[in-house]
Amino acid sequence: MARRKKIYEGKAKILYEGPEPGTIVQYFKDDATAFNAEKKAVIEGKGVLNNRLSEFFMTGLGQIGVPNHFIKRLNMREQLVRSVEIVPLEVIVRNYAAGTMSKRLGIEEGTQLPRPIVEYCYKDDSLGDPLVTEEHIAAFGWASQQDMDDILSLALRVNDFLSGVMMAVGIRLVDFKIEVGRVFDGDFHRLIVADEISPDSCRLWDIETGQKLDKDVFRRDLGDLKDAYTEVARRLGVMPKNTPPVTKPTLIN
Ligand code: C5P
Repeated sequence: MARRKKIYEGKAKILYEGPEPGTIVQYFKDDATAFNAEKKAVIEGKGVLNNRLSEFFMTGLGQIGVPNHFIKRLNMREQLVRSVEIVPLEVIVRNYAAGTMSKRLGIEEGTQLPRPIVEYCYKDDSLGDPLVTEEHIAAFGWASQQDMDDILSLALRVNDFLSGVMMAVGIRLVDFKIEVGRVFDGDFHRLIVADEISPDSCRLWDIETGQKLDKDVFRRDLGDLKDAYTEVARRLGVMPKNTPPVTKPTLIN
């Protein structure tokens, strides 16, 4: 088999050149990182779960007309996606206070916000992805005003969709992050949801018990991350019953 050209390796994914122009193969690794990669671990099976979960969310978004990069799943760890020019922003939507917002503003985690709040962070690991305002985004030319209008609309539509899907399986969508990218058509471009949507990039709490079912389990040493993600996948009916186990079988000699 011809060797594929690696385009980019990030903390949780590797991107390879796709089979056709304008496509990319997105490979989900088992690596978990937190606090700008100060904390690291390999969680066997995480990549398989996130591949399936991101497929599930992106497909659902596509069905309600929210444009996104997903084309098709290729195998347990890889999906074919559209190549985009990533806007260098992490777009965060919050429904309840948690994480850095709670720290920054002194609001108790779990406090319901008066309305969804959208925040933007500049994507730069060396700076720790700092929070920025629309003034910074406009002044430094990271996105135009039209882009920002489209990004806000995409973010709120993703929020409504994900909140509903999660609510239906007894999970509260506390907050999440998306990335968006530009696809070009001649002189024009449009924005689509890119990267991934998975428990790595959302806060998900069980509605009844408040149990965390997301990457905070790893960040805060609250238990087994794979069990948490498997529970999300199980509730959403994402991992079919006949799917091989996500861990490697123990070899008995
Ligand atoms: O850490 P913070 O509270 O700002 O995170 C808000 C949301 O954005 C969380 O769901 C977190 O998982 C996600 N996030 C992310 N990648 C980052 C920063 C935040 O997925 N680099």
